[in-house]
Amino acid sequence: MDKAAVYRRLQRQILSLHGEADDPISVMANTAAALHEALPYSSWTGFYRVVAPDLLRVGPFQGPVACVEIPFGRGVCGAAAETLRTQVVPDVHTFEGHIACDARARSEIVLPVLDAHGRLVAVLDIDSHQPASFDEADRAGLEAIVATLAGPLTSPPV
Ligand code: SME
Repeated sequence: MDKAAVYRRLQRQILSLHGEADDPISVMANTAAALHEALPYSSWTGFYRVVAPDLLRVGPFQGPVACVEIPFGRGVCGAAAETLRTQVVPDVHTFEGHIACDARARSEIVLPVLDAHGRLVAVLDIDSHQPASFDEADRAGLEAIVATLAGPLTSPPV
């Protein structure tokens, strides 16, 4: 199956999971699990949540233990949070400031996750032990999936 087909199937699966949970943490947990299981090159798949101005903290994920906090602007996750742009990094060793939670990590993709008001609520980080695992098909497929999270990750007014 090519990547585009895998992402189309994943998007349907993840959309159906949204209907089962009205809780942002549950939605992130099942999204991370679905992605991690379906992408053979993923070594770590998960979310870093915005918990304070300019601060990310590890959220639901699959894979080895990870760094707990990442300030905006640090590493690949911090770059995605600061710029609000997807970061595709074919070789983490050439990315200045890359945070090596797992010494085996060689490539990664990180996407900003916005809520329905356009506010950054998290980043989605997928790492691989192989170089150049992520390409434009991953970017397109994952951006489409992340867009479906906006509604489920929007906090109700308090
Ligand atoms: N590699 C990331 C840090 C997070 S972990 O890999 C799980 C980065 O530089 O942002």
